[in-house]
Amino acid sequence: MADQSQDKPWGGRFSEATDAFVEAFTASVTFDQKMANQDIDGSIAHATMLAEVGVLTHDEKQQIIDGLEEIRQDIKDGNFDWSISLEDVHMNIEARLTDKIGITGKKLHTGRSRNDQVATDIRLYLREAIDNILGEITRLQTGLVGLAEREADAIMPGFTHLQTAQPVTFGHHMMAWYEMLTRDYERLVDCRKRVNRMPLGSAALAGTTYPINREITAKLLGFEGISENSLDGVSDRDFAIEFISASSLIMTHLSRFSEELVLWTSAQFNFIDLPDRFCTGSSIMPQKKNPDVPELVRGKTGRVNGHLICLLTLMKGQPLAYNKDNQEDKEPLFDTIETVFNCLRAYADMVPAIEIKHDSMREAARRGFSTATDLADYLVKKGVAFRDSHEVVGKAVRYGLDTNKDLSEMTLEELQVFSDVIDDSVFDVLTLEGSVNARDHLGGTAPAQVKAATARARKVLAGRDL
Ligand code: ARG
Repeated sequence: MADQSQDKPWGGRFSEATDAFVEAFTASVTFDQKMANQDIDGSIAHATMLAEVGVLTHDEKQQIIDGLEEIRQDIKDGNFDWSISLEDVHMNIEARLTDKIGITGKKLHTGRSRNDQVATDIRLYLREAIDNILGEITRLQTGLVGLAEREADAIMPGFTHLQTAQPVTFGHHMMAWYEMLTRDYERLVDCRKRVNRMPLGSAALAGTTYPINREITAKLLGFEGISENSLDGVSDRDFAIEFISASSLIMTHLSRFSEELVLWTSAQFNFIDLPDRFCTGSSIMPQKKNPDVPELVRGKTGRVNGHLICLLTLMKGQPLAYNKDNQEDKEPLFDTIETVFNCLRAYADMVPAIEIKHDSMREAARRGFSTATDLADYLVKKGVAFRDSHEVVGKAVRYGLDTNKDLSEMTLEELQVFSDVIDDSVFDVLTLEGSVNARDHLGGTAPAQVKAATARARKVLAGRDL
């Protein structure tokens, strides 16, 4: 970083140089340089608009654009010396522009402030990030649908309280994750609408005396709307909080999913296998294969939740309009974007490669009296009141526990001890297949319903542009 401590763009009213520690303490360039491209896009749109309304000549505008495009290339090539003393990405780029094109560079900042500039940059950056994240959600959902199609009739135990409850199909279980991600997708699409509004033109806080035309800049930058109050435009970061909040829910879903994958890969469950390329070993225990990706995703949920609280707290005490506090919005926001994107990416890569251990899943479903409700429903259909049938089946289960027999392993005579309405047809409902096939309605676990759900999902996914 070059030393330009005496050379601040705002140095006019100051009589001594900034304290060296304060300079580093207040600078944001180490992290906001991520927004260099958006800063340049915003400046080009601003200069273009200034020329349209006659504040800059077309020649000045062209010099500015050419200079900024050169700077974009320099940054890309790693030929840009970011300076702490120039505080942030905005002043670094502007100072370099003036180095390159002279006095015309100093005209770029006419009619704007870093306050509306930074608010615009963050929105442009976040808009692109949301699009990338939406793309990864779609990729992960496509993987889940593929897995659900493949395993539409694979039987596993469904759980409540993590105790075996009723048999479900693995495809149905995967489609539950698909549904959660659909809501996550919708939330981000909705959040994007409020991100995609342009604060540029708010200037420092009150607007500007120049005859700016905000429609022109908004159109050039692809904004869907323009902030309608300058004080609000420069100061609120609710759009970022909203994004992190939606991200927290994405991470919560991925974390729950992770928890299941970790359990299912254990020797005790033994339901699935994750490919070696998504796992790591132990440096001491040679037999270990650890589900690191799900564990790490589960762990990373904490930092995103932390960022949410961080931004809410950052905002809550601020009077209008811009305050330096807002510089603290970027690191949590950037880290959230990176974390959510990377976790979704890892899952989108991993999910299609999950291998199902059909036999042990099925065996687990069979072992846990998972068709007990089916027997109760059977008795109800034979005229027994539900509460009585619940009692009858409870006794049959007790007998099964004592004799180490599942309901389907008992003879007709054994079952008839508990109720004389039971006949041979009972065995149709006591099988795992009979149980899942019987739940054949919208939202039910029957393989036919899973296939219908995946067909609907395929249509939804095909209709998305991200
Ligand atoms: N680096 C600042 C930020 O991130 C840019 C805006 C600075 N504005 C100011 N008036 N100091 O918020």
